Amino acid sequence: MIRVGLLGTGRIGRLHAKTIASHSESTLYAVSDIDSGSANELAVHYGATVKSSEEIISDSNIDAILIATSTDTHAGFIEKASLAGKAILCEKPVDLSLSRAKECLKKVSAANNPIMIGFNRRFDPNFAQLKKSLDDKEIGKSELLTITSFDPAPPPVSYVKTSGGLYRDMMIHDFDLSNFIMNELPVTISAVGHSLINPEIGAVGDVDTAVVTMIYADGKIAVIKNSRRAAYGYDQRIEILGSEGLLQAENIVENSVVKSTEAGVLSAKPKYFFLERYMSAYKAEWDAFIKSIKENTTVPVTLEDGVAALAMAEAATLSQSSGKSIQLKEVL
Ligand SMILES: NC(=O)c1ccc[n+]([C@@H]2O[C@H](COP(=O)([O-])OP(=O)(O)OC[C@H]3O[C@@H](n4cnc5c(N)ncnc54)[C@H](O)[C@@H]3O)[C@@H](O)[C@H]2O)c1
Repeated sequence: MIRVGLLGTGRIGRLHAKTIASHSESTLYAVSDIDSGSANELAVHYGATVKSSEEIISDSNIDAILIATSTDTHAGFIEKASLAGKAILCEKPVDLSLSRAKECLKKVSAANNPIMIGFNRRFDPNFAQLKKSLDDKEIGKSELLTITSFDPAPPPVSYVKTSGGLYRDMMIHDFDLSNFIMNELPVTISAVGHSLINPEIGAVGDVDTAVVTMIYADGKIAVIKNSRRAAYGYDQRIEILGSEGLLQAENIVENSVVKSTEAGVLSAKPKYFFLERYMSAYKAEWDAFIKSIKENTTVPVTLEDGVAALAMAEAATLSQSSGKSIQLKEVL
C-alpha cells in the first residue's frame, strides 16, 4: 500500500483525496493546507492525519506526495519532496515563470524519484483511444490537429489577475495534449487573442478568447481554440485529419437521451466543467502514477513535459503581444 501525503486541500486537492482513498493500492495518510479548517475537515473525512507540509515531506512513513497547492508553491515543493526521495504527482503548471520551472528541472535532474505532472487530459479514455488509433496508423499520416477547449463561464477577474494569463493557466492543458497526440513539439507558434467576453479581463491585460496555430518540422499543423465561455457548457473536443481519414473525440454529454419531435432534435449538454467531465481521467491519471511507482517505470507525464507546455504558453503569449510567429526554440 502506497502511503500518500496530500499538500493542498482546495478544489482539486479534494478530488484527488477521493481518488487516492478509493484506489486499492494507495491510502491517504496525511494532509496539509495553510487553511487548517479545510485540512482538518478532509483529514476527519478520510481518517488521515493533519501535518505541516514540511512534516509530510520529511515523514519516512510517506511514500508519495500529491501537490495540489496554489501554483506559486509547486516548484519549491517539487524540489523539497524530490530531495526527500518521495514519488511526486504535482498539479499543472510547474510554475507561472518558465525560468523558475527550468531551474526546478535542473535542481531535480540528478534525482531518480518519479516526478509526474498532472496533465489529466492525456488519461481521458476517449482522448487516449484517439491517440491509440493514430499511433496504430488507422488514419495514415497525421496532417491537421484541431483541439477545441471552451470553459462554460469565465472565472472571476480576481482569479484572472493572478492566473498567469489564458495561455499559461488554461491553454497549457491543450499544449500538453497536442504534444501527447503529435509525439513531438512544434517548431513555430502563432497566437491571436482578444477579450470579447468581459472587458475587465482585457483591462487586467489578459484575453478570454484565443486561437493558436502551430507548425511542425514536416509541415503538419495544429490549431488550438480556447474560450472562457460557452453558453452550452464545457466544450472539449479533438479532431485529427490524416492521409487516410479523420479521428474525432466528441463531448461527453450529461445523458444520452435524444428527443426528436416536429420542432427538431434535442440532446443533452456537455458535462458542466472539469470536475464532472474529467473524473475518469483523474482516476486513470492516479492509477498510471501508482503503476509507475509499483513497476518502477518512467511516469507517463514528466517534469520535462511540464516545462515544454509552459514554454509553448510563453511563446504564445509573446506571439500575441508581438504579432509575430515565435520559434519554440527561442524560449525552450
Ligand atoms: N489538472 C486540472 O484539471 C486542474 C484543475 C484545477 C486546478 N488545477 C491546479 O491545481 C492547483 C490548485 O488549484 P485549486 O483550484 O484546487 O485551488 P484552490 O485555491 O481551491 O486550492 C489550493 C489550496 O492550496 C492551499 N495552499 C496554498 N499555499 C499552500 C502552502 N504553502 N501549503 C499548504 N497549502 C497551501 C490553499 O489554502 C488552498 O486550499 C493550481 O495549481 C491549479 O492550476 C489543476
